[in-house]
Amino acid sequence: MEAILTQNPKLYDLAILGASGFTGKYVVREALKFLNTHSSPLKTIALAGRNPDKITQSLKWATQSTTTPSLSISIIKADVSDPDSLINLCSKSKLVLNCVGPFRLYGEPVVSACVETGCDYLDICGEPEFMEKMEAFYHEKAVENGSLVISACGFDSIPAEMGYMFNIKQWGSLAAPNKIDAYLNLESKKNIVGNIGTFESAVLGVANSGKLQELRKSRPSRARLVIPGPRPSKGATIEHQSHIELYGVKLPSADSTVVRRTLVTLTENPEGLPGVNESEEDAEKRKKFWAAMKPAHFGVKIASKSPLGLIRFIMAGLFIGLFGKISFGRRLLLKFPSVFTLGWFRKEGPTEEEVNSASFTMWFVGHGYSDVSLASAATKTDTEIITRVMGPEIGYVTTPIVLLQCALVLLSHRNNLPKGGVYPPGIVFGATDLQERLQQNGITFDLVSKSAF
Ligand SMILES: NC(=O)c1ccc[n+]([C@@H]2O[C@H](COP(=O)([O-])OP(=O)(O)OC[C@H]3O[C@@H](n4cnc5c(N)ncnc54)[C@H](OP(=O)(O)O)[C@@H]3O)[C@@H](O)[C@H]2O)c1
Repeated sequence: MEAILTQNPKLYDLAILGASGFTGKYVVREALKFLNTHSSPLKTIALAGRNPDKITQSLKWATQSTTTPSLSISIIKADVSDPDSLINLCSKSKLVLNCVGPFRLYGEPVVSACVETGCDYLDICGEPEFMEKMEAFYHEKAVENGSLVISACGFDSIPAEMGYMFNIKQWGSLAAPNKIDAYLNLESKKNIVGNIGTFESAVLGVANSGKLQELRKSRPSRARLVIPGPRPSKGATIEHQSHIELYGVKLPSADSTVVRRTLVTLTENPEGLPGVNESEEDAEKRKKFWAAMKPAHFGVKIASKSPLGLIRFIMAGLFIGLFGKISFGRRLLLKFPSVFTLGWFRKEGPTEEEVNSASFTMWFVGHGYSDVSLASAATKTDTEIITRVMGPEIGYVTTPIVLLQCALVLLSHRNNLPKGGVYPPGIVFGATDLQERLQQNGITFDLVSKSAF
């Protein structure tokens, strides 16, 4: 391996694998905004995938031009079923952004090649089993080889991770939350539509849900979160949250498991993760940030202004849950995604107009104690803090923005980040300037209210 590294210095600051995909082409478009601009660490990009002609089409779409691409952009053939092609790509790149999914089918060879070559890795995965499996299989080698592997750097699960931390920051030193519920409200003047790639990942997740439980049972137990107050009750299936005027139903997304992994990693490393070569000043900043962070019970609900608005999500969940477990059912789901999700997912994905007209608001409703000592006296919670994160369409606008900002933080502040390892994004990016960067790029964080009862 050393020989490969010596022969091939890192030619590319960034490689986008799966650049020809529905999401991949939007990621390419976002990356080009930062290529060779003032103070950007992005000077060279490789667009990679199994079909160079399709990648060229993506590039043309992203640049809206028919001219020859800039010299700073290379197109590289890389197929996830050809390990040598991945080793070639990773050994020439500082960082790979993986947009090839479903990750449970295609992700592991990419992680393996990154870890082998000491290349950093980010992806837009929303599949908990894949993330936890990569942590179980590759963490130690990634630490050793100096490869930072971070999944869930898209809408899954950066708004949840950063939104959780933003809510916690509002509690002050004495107060502490017992639970934070996130309510995700999707809006559009047209239709809310997702591409088949995300739908297939969700269907396969349901089909294999037992494997995640098996994996967790097979792993050594990790630190327990110490959360003030009793475990909250489950509550109604459809819940009305009067302060934000929304109805919500549980969303089985990756967000709650990713936030929990960040909180567990924090419990095991109360000062956060030391940077590979950080200054004393940066180390102090990191310690101060994490000292103020607190664990709480966390869950996510999909929300709507009326119970009727939830029907589409409930029906899609029921069909995926019912048919996703058997192979004939899965074939039906994947053949007719639009029918089984009442138009939520389409084989050809959303139109440009549909993408541009959609937006999201994620509300974080925290309940807890004005003084943490009240929790042990079995007193009822007496404080509510509501914050929110807002942004454009989730899958193809917010996801590329978030992924690129994570990439830019990583390329700009590599010394302040761990040498290597497989981690959830919050514990790596929490103490960096990621939140400010997201704000500068159209994803807002604000405090809505603080109430005492
Ligand atoms: N976190 C989030 O919020 C978020 C948002 C959007 C998407 N996603 C996830 O991103 C993934 C992709 O979704 P999508 O809608 O973009 O799917 P898609 O349009 O089907 O794109 C899949 C990409 O994978 C490539 N690919 C497939 N097999 C390959 C192989 N053997 N070697 C190399 N590349 C291969 C495809 O290449 P070809 O073009 O050559 O077929 C294509 O570029 C899904 O898992 C989805 O869940 C997550």
